[in-house]
Amino acid sequence: MTVTDPTTAAHSSVAVPRVAFPPGFSWGAATAAYQIEGAAAEDGRTPSIWDAFAKTPGKVLNGDTGDVAVDHYHRFREDVRLMADLGLTSYRFSLSWPRIQPTGRGPAVERGLDFYRALVDTLLEHGISPVATLYHWDLPQDLEEAGGWPIRETAYRFAEYAALAAGALGDRVPVWTTLNEPWCSAFLGYGSGVHAPGRTNPADALKAAHHLNLGHGLAVGALREVLPASAKIAVSLNLHLVRPLTDTPEDREAARRIEAVGNRVWTGPMFKGGYDEDLKADTAHLVDWDELVRPGDEAEIGRPIDLLGLNYYNPTVVSAPRDNAETAEAARNDGHGDSEFSCWPGSEDVVFHLANDDVTAMGWPIDASGLVDSLVGMHRDFGLPLLVTENGAAFEDVVGPDGEVDDPERVRYVELHLQAVADAIAAGADVRGYYLWSLLDNFEWAYGYSKRFGIVHVDYDTQQRTPKTSARWYAEVIRRGGLA
Ligand code: FCB
Repeated sequence: MTVTDPTTAAHSSVAVPRVAFPPGFSWGAATAAYQIEGAAAEDGRTPSIWDAFAKTPGKVLNGDTGDVAVDHYHRFREDVRLMADLGLTSYRFSLSWPRIQPTGRGPAVERGLDFYRALVDTLLEHGISPVATLYHWDLPQDLEEAGGWPIRETAYRFAEYAALAAGALGDRVPVWTTLNEPWCSAFLGYGSGVHAPGRTNPADALKAAHHLNLGHGLAVGALREVLPASAKIAVSLNLHLVRPLTDTPEDREAARRIEAVGNRVWTGPMFKGGYDEDLKADTAHLVDWDELVRPGDEAEIGRPIDLLGLNYYNPTVVSAPRDNAETAEAARNDGHGDSEFSCWPGSEDVVFHLANDDVTAMGWPIDASGLVDSLVGMHRDFGLPLLVTENGAAFEDVVGPDGEVDDPERVRYVELHLQAVADAIAAGADVRGYYLWSLLDNFEWAYGYSKRFGIVHVDYDTQQRTPKTSARWYAEVIRRGGLA
């Protein structure tokens, strides 16, 4: 791949990558409902699993919640103006299920839909193309209490909600994604419990995975019935770019296991006709796959989609267990939060290693080569047009005495990853857009407001928005179309 001289990007002047992107490439930023909207109890919205989880003591750092978040619900016009000032051509946001269908059943709430109609209309007025994600982790709490994703019924509820949302917004939203990172919903939500709803049962995590897949497939079917033929349907997966620590058979076996339960659990049924035998064998002691997967499910999940979204932050380096005390301590770091329960059902013994020591404030290693490899591999394996639906970084931002936020590390991170996208395109991958995570600083799940991913700084006391250096830099990249 092309290597960027990090010194050119490590200062705050506007440095533009010397790479070309195809005409029509979508220059975007991404957010999610619970992380930015606030207005948690307004206009008929009821609690989601994240409201309940955040209010459970000890689950979210500092007891932070999304009750107010960055008040986007009331400030969306200002936020869209900011996007327009940056020159974004597209914006990826998520719809809050409990705002649209509060209990997860029954008719839609018009006031909830009105918010999204107004948001989408404002985007369109500014020439910004909306990408709507149906599920970015905020299951209505009522559905969790009825059993949540480990029960099959939830998949059907999701498809019904998808049809309601598409019926209201389908005339003006050209791109829909079903699920955001279902791996996190299943394995952090029901396995390690670091995400809502905070359950810790490996069998439930696997059942949740299948029902998320089924919900995706059923929703694709429902969306196709409701949406105009021109609409495109996608899913956003955080496919792990797994590398074995060494080339030994043991480390390669560890990588195979993590690829199976991290990636192929989704891509198998979505794109390859079904769940792989090795995944089922690795987890057969936890679930009875023959009972879980009913006849016809895999065909349902495999309904064709139009675009595949990748959320990429860092590569994943794994090894077989090592009885070496030094690595044992450091090596549990899979970047997915601390828990005594594993988020890798059936492969709990696999050891995770940092790809390098150059890390973001999340402790996630910076290595854009994994993005090239991911995109090229996805192009080869699935043959679909691709979107990078999330990529970005948290750093310890400092507001200067002049009120400005100079974030050269974020500029460097994004530049390296845009270079990677260009390299993947040069290698033949059909990448159609890039969505920077995130437009605004926001509620970073179990880390609350302690981690800032925005290219626009938010003062959480005053809700004042201040574009960081990275925002101005990104605006310049967009203005030039990434061209030298
Ligand atoms: C992804 C999530 C997104 C955000 C980033 C940092 O896993 O999809 O909401 O939290 O991580």
